[in-house]
Amino acid sequence: MKKTVIQSIWDFIGFPLSAFLLDEPAQKKLGLTTLKERRLFAVLPLLQGNVLDIGCGHNELIKSYRAKGRQGVGADVFPFEGVDKIVDTTKLPYADKQFDTVTIIAALNHIPLGKRIAVLNEAYRVLENKGRLIVTMINGTIGYLCHKLMWWDFDQGEREVDWKEENYGLSNKYVTEIIGKCGFRLIKRKRFVYGLNNLFIFEK
Ligand SMILES: C[S@@+](CC[C@H](N)C(=O)[O-])C[C@H]1O[C@@H](n2cnc3c(N)ncnc32)[C@H](O)[C@@H]1O
Repeated sequence: MKKTVIQSIWDFIGFPLSAFLLDEPAQKKLGLTTLKERRLFAVLPLLQGNVLDIGCGHNELIKSYRAKGRQGVGADVFPFEGVDKIVDTTKLPYADKQFDTVTIIAALNHIPLGKRIAVLNEAYRVLENKGRLIVTMINGTIGYLCHKLMWWDFDQGEREVDWKEENYGLSNKYVTEIIGKCGFRLIKRKRFVYGLNNLFIFEK
């Protein structure tokens, strides 16, 4: 999963194109790493055991994990192509402690405000003791720019986004506090995509 130096330089030069101007097929044609792939490359090495991805979108993370012979399931409220389970994520159809890792990738801000705590409590319930919750999130300002400029964004295009209940992004403080309130302990936060995105590792 390690990028070559040439790929890294090319991605850096092409970043404005991949962030704002070109849709995913066009980015791929030019050999650029898409933002979705950047998230995937950051998260995939952190997955352990049986994995649940909440808000999985087209389920690329779990598909890539399963391609390595591992076990996981992608759940979402919207029937995007590739989703394993279309569910109400405030009532996950899984047993307590069934998963070793739960992920919420670029999705916590899209879980409606009124449901966020309930979904996080469910993530806690289905996670094994000492299991990890991995979250990626951009802050509100970057998120606002991305959501306004990314004319090709699959989520805004296919699903009806409700901006009264959803956020463009979330601050590090908010993410740490709301997840902390649900019983998780922050182990590590690191930045990726040139410091514009954040990856959080929490432990149950
Ligand atoms: C920007 S997409 C991210 C998709 C994917 N995780 C990725 O990295 O490409 C946000 C996702 O949050 C999902 N979502 C919205 N409301 C949700 C909820 N209540 N529970 C779980 N996921 C939700 C959307 O359906 C969408 O798939």
